[in-house]
Amino acid sequence: MANNAAGYKKTTRIVHGAAKTPRWDYAHHVVPPLTASTTFRLESVKRAARGFNEFGAFRKESEAPIYIYDRLEEPTRGLLESQIASMEGADACLTFASGMAAVSAALGCLLQSGDEVVAHTLLYGCTHSLFTNWYPKLGIKVRRVDFTDAKAVAKAVNSRTRALYFESPVNPTLDLVDLRAVSDAAAKANKGRKRRIFTVIDNTFATPFGQRPIEHGIDVTLHSLTKNIGGFGTEVGGAVCCSKEVFPLLASYRKDFGGILSPKAAWAILVYGVPTIPLRIKRQQYSALHVARYLQNHPLVATVRYPGLDSFPQHGLALRQMRDFDGGFAPGNMIYFKLDERKIDAVKFVDHVAQNAYCVTLAVSLGHTKTLIELPSGMTHSAYAGHGPMKENRGIRLSIGLESPVDIIKDLEASLRAVARRR
Ligand SMILES: Cc1ncc(COP(=O)(O)O)c(C=O)c1O
Repeated sequence: MANNAAGYKKTTRIVHGAAKTPRWDYAHHVVPPLTASTTFRLESVKRAARGFNEFGAFRKESEAPIYIYDRLEEPTRGLLESQIASMEGADACLTFASGMAAVSAALGCLLQSGDEVVAHTLLYGCTHSLFTNWYPKLGIKVRRVDFTDAKAVAKAVNSRTRALYFESPVNPTLDLVDLRAVSDAAAKANKGRKRRIFTVIDNTFATPFGQRPIEHGIDVTLHSLTKNIGGFGTEVGGAVCCSKEVFPLLASYRKDFGGILSPKAAWAILVYGVPTIPLRIKRQQYSALHVARYLQNHPLVATVRYPGLDSFPQHGLALRQMRDFDGGFAPGNMIYFKLDERKIDAVKFVDHVAQNAYCVTLAVSLGHTKTLIELPSGMTHSAYAGHGPMKENRGIRLSIGLESPVDIIKDLEASLRAVARRR
């Protein structure tokens, strides 16, 4: 096989990986082997000591690793990490046991007691819970600001700020954050500063196929691999992509806090999830646009938010920053909508879907082969307890799967009709 992946498209490279990495025996395997060894044979104490000494140092893909122990570094996980780093255009990637392990590691390796984080007002429920229930105990303050207003972000920064943290699209409302505006605000604040501020984005909704924040100046990008990258709903995992400067901190954090991704989960994500991302997401986007248009024209629906709709308030920004590997528009597979509560009750509607639909399933998570529906206020975002951005919010989140959009619409229509209040 060719030695060099350069010059090949990303859609091709995610199928084949980095050419001739020393992590994988290309002479014999077509599919990367699933490694399952907790510990690795070391031919001398000298080599073992070198491995420990060099652990955490940034290494080029072409340099052979010294494997010592699974929690430090491991071949299957390493292959997945090199694929995700390449998709994101990052120097490096490390994977974790879950998306939440990735969130806590991305910030945990940067923060110390006394530091502050400036974060968007609305975040995935467990990230909100991490910030409100655990960070105060660690002496870390989190200031909440509307990240759709970059000037407000710049204003909230002070001498203790160490990280700017947000999602885009935001879970579940799909608000977008202007990545360039936030990275510019951080760059300005970093002038003359000793301990610099890092911008950190949870890119789970968009995927690196649909949005590469590092190209827009963002420092750290992370994912719940459980979602779009894993893609099949069978593995839990997380990933953090960063620069070679941040990498040693992150590697050391993962070694000592220990939240590694198991090689078995890494293998499934590497072999099934990653190569099929463009196929899955393109198909889901096609269906999402159909479903969003159907909802938009429905008399029982009050509002629909989907970045691919012309009516989406930040459609221009979506067109600018949500771009796939080939430059195509990539508005994603998530829809958020509100019913006209004078005409139909949201809980009754979702319950009806749960009990009657064939291809729309009431379940949390997203980026699955199957279409999933949920009511964030009482489920994924219950940590907000109906306060702040989730106050009186009875919006419904839909994650579009691989079914025919005609059938997704058929199930939604049946429940809308069945539950609508009779006048
Ligand atoms: C945007 C976002 N980030 C992080 C997570 C956490 O991921 P995990 O469930 O893999 O820990 C989720 C989970 O739903 C999520 O939606």
